[in-house]
Amino acid sequence: MHFTDVPPWPVYGLGVAGRLAELVESGTVFDYAGSGAVRELEEAFSRHHEGRYVVSFNSGTSALYAALCALGVGAGDEVIVPNLTFLASASPALWIGATPVLVDSGLSDASIDPAAVEAAITERTRVVVVTHLFGNPVDLDAVAAVCDRHGVALLEDCSHAHASTVDGRSVGQHGAAAIWSIGAGKMVSGGHGGLLVTADAKVRDVALLTGHFKPRTRTDILTAELRPYAEFALGGNLRLSPLSAVLALDHLTRLEELSAQRCTNVAIVDNYLAGLLVPLRPPAPRVNRSHFDLVYLLPSQLLTAARGDVLKALNSANVPAGAPSTRPLNRVLGAMRPLSTEPTRPLLHRLGTLGAAAPPDVRLPNSTELHDRMLSLPANWLHEANPAAAHSLGAAVARAVRPLVEGVR
Ligand SMILES: Cc1ncc(COP(=O)(O)O)c(C=O)c1O
Repeated sequence: MHFTDVPPWPVYGLGVAGRLAELVESGTVFDYAGSGAVRELEEAFSRHHEGRYVVSFNSGTSALYAALCALGVGAGDEVIVPNLTFLASASPALWIGATPVLVDSGLSDASIDPAAVEAAITERTRVVVVTHLFGNPVDLDAVAAVCDRHGVALLEDCSHAHASTVDGRSVGQHGAAAIWSIGAGKMVSGGHGGLLVTADAKVRDVALLTGHFKPRTRTDILTAELRPYAEFALGGNLRLSPLSAVLALDHLTRLEELSAQRCTNVAIVDNYLAGLLVPLRPPAPRVNRSHFDLVYLLPSQLLTAARGDVLKALNSANVPAGAPSTRPLNRVLGAMRPLSTEPTRPLLHRLGTLGAAAPPDVRLPNSTELHDRMLSLPANWLHEANPAAAHSLGAAVARAVRPLVEGVR
């Protein structure tokens, strides 16, 4: 088996191509009213989240931007963000003129550390963003308690965690709002797209005003005080395409099956790697049912520097393993050079300033050290109901890493 022939994802079920063809043939390739497949997707996602309000967007990044606007973030505010997350958890704060403040992980599963969140809160903090990294739910009770104590809003970025649960409840229901990317290789993917979930009608309506101007706002605004804004709204056209909605609906309808396939396959790989690599997974009762990225840690007896040798051994065995593509944001920002020629473009200037002020690794020791010990296996192998592929992958990884790991015992 050649692990370099990675099976494609996203792939879709029978019938999806026909539904897309119907939309194309009827010219239903846009939707300014929030109807048809877009409405269907929002309603289906709402049923997955205890009937909460759902607003769709053209990307997870747009959903994050709308969520920050809806939660009252303004220029000069601070938004707390995990250091280990995709850059879009932080970047929309910049568009508003707010400052992302990077916070370290705990050591057990790389999630944001609630104590570090509390230490970072100032009188300018408006929102704490948490990311359920690689599908691992963060300790929501602990972070929510910190947010409540300080009167700041909790925003969950569930882009890696479409099927993840805490005590049997889907993530995304513990804070003021939550967003999911439904783009690219996510477990539920419309190609491009994002969804925002909230129990608060006003948050939902401001999100709608931010990304969906008329005619949808004319009919859909629930809170009376916001209706006068319906005509002009904030003018943002951040809508989901109905074609993307059809694609995402196919995955959402099969979410249980897709999650079960992944969990079965991951358990097989884990079994081969027991005692060799350490799975980066949360302790019960937080449950990762998405396994967005299949990440393991080097065992403690191996020096961090050995990751290069382990990756070389894996790549020689045709296993395309690497460091996770989600990199510590302090390093991503710190690698930027300030653009001294751009003082007249405030956004670029702010980006340069943020890069220059990026905290060094020693101030974010857990997230940076953990990232240096992480190995990401080709998770696309594990989407399909194909245990043979999981057995081959597990056996190949075990064969490649055993001499290196056992050699240092
Ligand atoms: C954690 C996280 N948040 C946000 C996003 C942004 O989503 P999108 O690419 O749909 O804009 C991503 C995308 O990969 C992500 O991984």
